[in-house]
Amino acid sequence: MTSLRHVIKIDPWIFDSLIPLQKPREHSYIIHNKINSIITFLSMSPTTLEVQSQAQVDAISAPDAIAEFNQYVMSTYARFPIALERGEGCRVWDSTGKEYLDFVAGIATCTLGHAHPAMVKAVTEQIQTLHHASNLFYFAPQGQLAKWLVQNSCADKAFFCNSGAEANEGAIKLARKYAHTKLGIDEPVILTANASFHGRTLATVTATGQPKYHKNFAPLVAGFDYIPYNDIAALEAAVKKYEGRLAAIMLEPLQGEGGVNPGDRAYFARVRELCDETKALLIIDEVQVGMGRSGMLWGYENLGIQPDVFTSAKGLGGGIPIGAMMCKSTCDVFEAGDHASTFGGNPFACAVALAVSGTMVKDNLIANARERGQQLRTGLQAICDRYPQHLASVRGWGLIDGLVLQESSNIQARDVVASGIEHGLLLVPAGVKVVRFVPPLTVSAAEIDQALAIVEQAIAAFEA
Ligand SMILES: Cc1ncc(COP(=O)(O)O)c(C=O)c1O
Repeated sequence: MTSLRHVIKIDPWIFDSLIPLQKPREHSYIIHNKINSIITFLSMSPTTLEVQSQAQVDAISAPDAIAEFNQYVMSTYARFPIALERGEGCRVWDSTGKEYLDFVAGIATCTLGHAHPAMVKAVTEQIQTLHHASNLFYFAPQGQLAKWLVQNSCADKAFFCNSGAEANEGAIKLARKYAHTKLGIDEPVILTANASFHGRTLATVTATGQPKYHKNFAPLVAGFDYIPYNDIAALEAAVKKYEGRLAAIMLEPLQGEGGVNPGDRAYFARVRELCDETKALLIIDEVQVGMGRSGMLWGYENLGIQPDVFTSAKGLGGGIPIGAMMCKSTCDVFEAGDHASTFGGNPFACAVALAVSGTMVKDNLIANARERGQQLRTGLQAICDRYPQHLASVRGWGLIDGLVLQESSNIQARDVVASGIEHGLLLVPAGVKVVRFVPPLTVSAAEIDQALAIVEQAIAAFEA
């Protein structure tokens, strides 16, 4: 018979008054007025029961939580060995109580940081009002969020889903229907960039121009081809090659996962021109860069162009899952039944996204992203200058910034991230040689200074 293992956290005063237990012990029945009901519940299933004081729990919970996690969760992520337990603002704490400055923010997702009062209020109010209803019906928060997005972008209409991949999947389907119905194309092609990242569903992983993500998933989805990013000559050649078949060009305004690589204005101007000439759609993936992170509300504003379609997720809900696919009325070709999502745009997620966007505006967080981003890049550049053997350059927009390591250095981005964790700063790699900084947009000047001091320590550790 399988035995379940339960660990109960209890206050020391209760622990002291408990009947001493021999542990682990099968089928334990303990009668104690304070914890009677929990114990009774546990003893109804085959169980090994351990009762531990809070101090014992703290001492074992991190490795225990990690071991349990690894036993039951698929190994799709290379995780760092800390178990995060709570957060507040730009800080998080792990299960041993160690504090970290969080410059990962759920990978560019926690726009307002952790436990922000506006999110707490929105979550609390909406869960008590109407948290979910089918898209068979109307509910105000979805309409209000769509209105905010339309009034603050170049788009006319919104479709809501739950993630970046799903938003991009929607954009891909929209482009195909547009090509079939408006351009008379039978076998549409979508061009995406090398080193891009668009998600992990079959279509979006195909759109992702990184062979390492395609490995072992063949056959991939037909109708995609890849071009080098920021290369006008290659772009023109590909557009010519697919003359009569081009449905869309899909690009990130700044490649996040692919190395924090900003788009070039002249390149994007030419992309726009070629889309206008061929009637192909320009799809901009704003999943990582959008919602103020770039120092503008949308990344495309840094490039002086307007897309026909753009997608958002990550920062839109500040950590509550929501995605959006936005389009101009000229390509709003979806009809009832064409596309759907059970959870897409439910009242709960939309109310939180409205709280995030409202707070972003009220607290001038886009200006903060610009100013703090400048401070961060200036500080990182100074560290680069002090460690030229390891650090090559700094690049980025607003609060999506990359520290580029020297190709010749034996240090990889993952090593810097591990050293950062040791020193109390969470960072995320963007490829092998770029360390990404994507803190909450609420980050303060003092927190940027503190992060810079830790980066210096983390790099200096490789000199020792
Ligand atoms: C630019 C971009 N597009 C799409 C995605 C996929 O988003 P999700 O993980 O929410 O599906 C990501 C995720 O990192 C991304 O950075």
